[in-house]
Amino acid sequence: MSENNELIQEGKAKIRVSGEKKVSKKLPVFYNSVMKLNRDISILLLNCVKDKDLRVALPLAGSGIRGLRFLLELKKNKIKTLYINDYKEEFFSVIKTNFLLNNLPVSEIILSNEDANIFLLNNCGFDYIDIDPFGTPNPFLNSTIRRVSRKGIIAITATDTSSLCGTYENACKRKYWAVPLRNELKHEIGLRILIRKVQLIGSQFDKALTPIFSYSKDHYFRVFFKCRKSKSEVDRVLKKHAFFFEAGPVWIGQLWDESLVEEMYEQSDIGLKKFLSIIKNESNIKTVGFHDIHKICEELKVEVPKFDFLSEKIKKAGFNVSRTHFSGVGLRSDISKEKLIRIIKKHHETTS
Ligand SMILES: C[S@@+](CC[C@H](N)C(=O)[O-])C[C@H]1O[C@@H](n2cnc3c(N)ncnc32)[C@H](O)[C@@H]1O
Repeated sequence: MSENNELIQEGKAKIRVSGEKKVSKKLPVFYNSVMKLNRDISILLLNCVKDKDLRVALPLAGSGIRGLRFLLELKKNKIKTLYINDYKEEFFSVIKTNFLLNNLPVSEIILSNEDANIFLLNNCGFDYIDIDPFGTPNPFLNSTIRRVSRKGIIAITATDTSSLCGTYENACKRKYWAVPLRNELKHEIGLRILIRKVQLIGSQFDKALTPIFSYSKDHYFRVFFKCRKSKSEVDRVLKKHAFFFEAGPVWIGQLWDESLVEEMYEQSDIGLKKFLSIIKNESNIKTVGFHDIHKICEELKVEVPKFDFLSEKIKKAGFNVSRTHFSGVGLRSDISKEKLIRIIKKHHETTS
């Protein structure tokens, strides 16, 4: 490793990485600070689920920061064995340097330097597999799902949001077997398209994959699935695939396990609290999609009422309401658009 490499602290881990600021596939193993929240959420989620003594696999480990943080920040009983793999040439030397820096013996983990699919298929099974690639997770889905244990968890990142959100409609059809949406709901629908695709691969192996925590952030989607090996559970999952207007098919089931979200909110630190509080509130409202208040008000040519005002009126009318993490101007509610428009119009009449 070059002496010029930067020393970085993230969570409890220190790493030495390339000082390059621009993230790219062509770089040697590098560190991406934008994905800190992705790693923070993974640690929080694993600390909140009941599972313990896990065989954990990081097939696309990069700098090893996630693995280091897992060892330093997960509760004592969580990890039984940690497998860390990446196919980059310099991977072993990067990992060894970074483990030494944190006073962790490399003998604690099982290291390999192979293609992720070969690594996964050459092992007999894992309770948690984290797929965090550049772009689409598609090339790794078969081997990941084959190797996740009967009641294991898989975490999937997708950074190819331009396909999933409809910039490249044909790419979405080819890669995700669904039609994307190009309006204000494109992120939620894109996330639901990704979920369905992963579930379809799961169904080939009689593995029902139910999302327990999902979100869209910056340039990526992230979904944690709980696996259950059961033909009847797979049938139940497939019944929740449907079109959303002209888009889809998408997963129309829940994006979160409410009690897990509650626990994650309780255990989160200040850095994650706000994000989790929005997700906690929206996880209680079982709708696909949300209302974009700015768009509705633009159509009506009226001023945008304050969120708290609308929220109170919607609740008074007997409906549930929350903000949504998908959009700063979104309102998740089981109220119909027509009823919401009536509330907005009435507000406009009384204030103008
Ligand atoms: C986005 S980075 C991973 C970041 C890392 N998970 C983290 O949390 O910091 C993707 C990594 O996957 C590795 N990679 C890409 N394709 C691979 C493959 N087929 N097999 C093994 N590693 C691969 C790259 O070398 C790169 O280090």
